[in-house]
Amino acid sequence: MARTRSLVTALVLSFCTTSTLALSIDTTNTTSISQAAAAILNGLMLVNYNPNATTGHFKQPEPWYWWLSGDAWTGIMDYTVYTGDKTYEKDILSALSDPVNLGTNYDMMAAAQQGWEANDDQAYWLYNALTALEYNFTAISPCVPSSTGKGGCANSWLSIATNVFDEFVARWANDSVTCGGGLKWQYNPKANGYYYKNSVANGGFFQTAARLARYTGNSTYADWATKIWDWSVAIGMVSPEFNVYDGTGDAGTANCSAMDHDQWSYNLATYLHGTAAMYAYTSEHDPSSAGTWQSRVHSFLLSANQTFFSPPGQNATGVMYEQKCEMDLSCSTDQTAFKSSLARWMAKTAVLVPGEKDLIMSLLATSAEGAVKSCVLAYGVQVCGMTWWDKAGFDGKPSFGAQLSALEVVTGLLVGQAPALAKI
Ligand SMILES: *[C@@H]1O[C@H](CO)[C@@H](O)[C@H](O)[C@H]1NC(C)=O
Ligand SMILES: *[C@@H]1O[C@H](CO)[C@@H](O)[C@H](O)[C@H]1NC(C)=O
Ligand SMILES: *[C@@H]1O[C@H](CO)[C@@H](O)[C@H](O)[C@H]1NC(C)=O
Ligand SMILES: *[C@@H]1O[C@H](CO)[C@@H](O)[C@H](O)[C@H]1NC(C)=O
Ligand SMILES: *[C@@H]1O[C@H](CO)[C@@H](O)[C@H](O)[C@H]1NC(C)=O
Ligand SMILES: *[C@@H]1O[C@H](CO)[C@@H](O)[C@H](O)[C@H]1NC(C)=O
Ligand SMILES: *[C@@H]1O[C@H](CO)[C@@H](O)[C@H](O)[C@H]1NC(C)=O
Repeated sequence: MARTRSLVTALVLSFCTTSTLALSIDTTNTTSISQAAAAILNGLMLVNYNPNATTGHFKQPEPWYWWLSGDAWTGIMDYTVYTGDKTYEKDILSALSDPVNLGTNYDMMAAAQQGWEANDDQAYWLYNALTALEYNFTAISPCVPSSTGKGGCANSWLSIATNVFDEFVARWANDSVTCGGGLKWQYNPKANGYYYKNSVANGGFFQTAARLARYTGNSTYADWATKIWDWSVAIGMVSPEFNVYDGTGDAGTANCSAMDHDQWSYNLATYLHGTAAMYAYTSEHDPSSAGTWQSRVHSFLLSANQTFFSPPGQNATGVMYEQKCEMDLSCSTDQTAFKSSLARWMAKTAVLVPGEKDLIMSLLATSAEGAVKSCVLAYGVQVCGMTWWDKAGFDGKPSFGAQLSALEVVTGLLVGQAPALAKI
């Protein structure tokens, strides 16, 4: 831990004096893209990760959040699958299999996180299991034999994913006493935020149901995805313009009548990827609905293009930014990481909905060029800033979230190299 901390301190102190040896990338050359991704990931691991500390937990400035570590492992798993570079496979598997993250019931409810873990945090760890299923990623070993576990193992990726899905279903039933449906942000009634239904939690449940539907072909999951979608639209969380708003309260008699209209990139991204999975599911199992889902995917992309790309007055068309906090450099630890979700799920959407590939890849390419320019070589590692549109390059604002976002926007350009998505 001491080593990690002192490296961070050294990096921060060195920014004023280090010359800007920026990374370079040719977004038409997969070797060049892989090299840039490897350099950014190397920086993330050296600056932010110490495997001798709590397994799977990345270091961030206090307060740091467990969900961000779950988020990062998905980005690193994608890197591993897209590039074939297995350097971090062991780290991924030890993070995801350790009870400090997986929980003793194989559902990403770890004892140490009780008290602050919310539905969205659990979802961000769960996405690792869904991603592992889709890419037939190495299983957790050893298998814990179980007669009820999927594939005979209590700790198979499918068991983990369906365990969490089942918990979301049970919580939805409880939470539907207000607002005609919807998951609360928190599942713990004592937690701050219990009386709030938000898009990252409901979009997370929607995306989980949709991805399980595509993977299993089981219509129960698709029916849930449709139900969550319909509620999200009816309550105004997903607007007719395909903006995704942050959430709405259900304390007292509020009953979700007042929406918080803040727009964050990860909220839209969460729903976007769920609609893409539903497009893929319906194309195969319910073709008369496929066109509807495809048009929802397209509408989300146009909305994302308008809201989260091309910061005004910067002459940076097609460059991704976190519009709520980035222009005045006020993003919190959490918020610095949101672009990682938008980049990741846009890339994966390009695979599921090939008709959107050109639009998506062109937005990711302009963003990746900016992201790479935001990185600087300091003490032998590439450290990336928050702003990708700033022609001056590195903005002096490195963070775990900024580094992860840079990794994912670059890695996303390689999504075409991923194996075909598995299904059963
Ligand atoms: C692609 O990038 C690699 C690594 O930077 C470089 O060695 C190679 O020459 C490039 N290929 C082309 C066709 O530009
Ligand atoms: C972790 O512990 C091992 C064994 O004690 C040691 O060799 C290694 O240098 C440590 N790694 C870090 C990053 O501190
Ligand atoms: C998935 O991986 C396992 C073990 O690595 C392998 O035996 C199996 O053939 C793979 N399945 C597919 C569909 O690639
Ligand atoms: C449903 O609510 C009851 C009463 O508050 C609680 O005891 C139970 O644990 C909740 N179940 C779920 C799945 O949230
Ligand atoms: C709460 O909102 C839901 C969904 O809009 C609605 O169906 C229900 O009637 C409302 N309940 C009350 C008490 O207003
Ligand atoms: C589909 O999934 C649901 C929910 O997990 C399960 O109850 C049902 O048995 C599954 N149906 C089939 C045909 O596997
Ligand atoms: C995306 O936004 C840019 C900048 O506003 C605009 O020029 C472009 O036409 C938009 N792309 C699409 C497909 O709407």
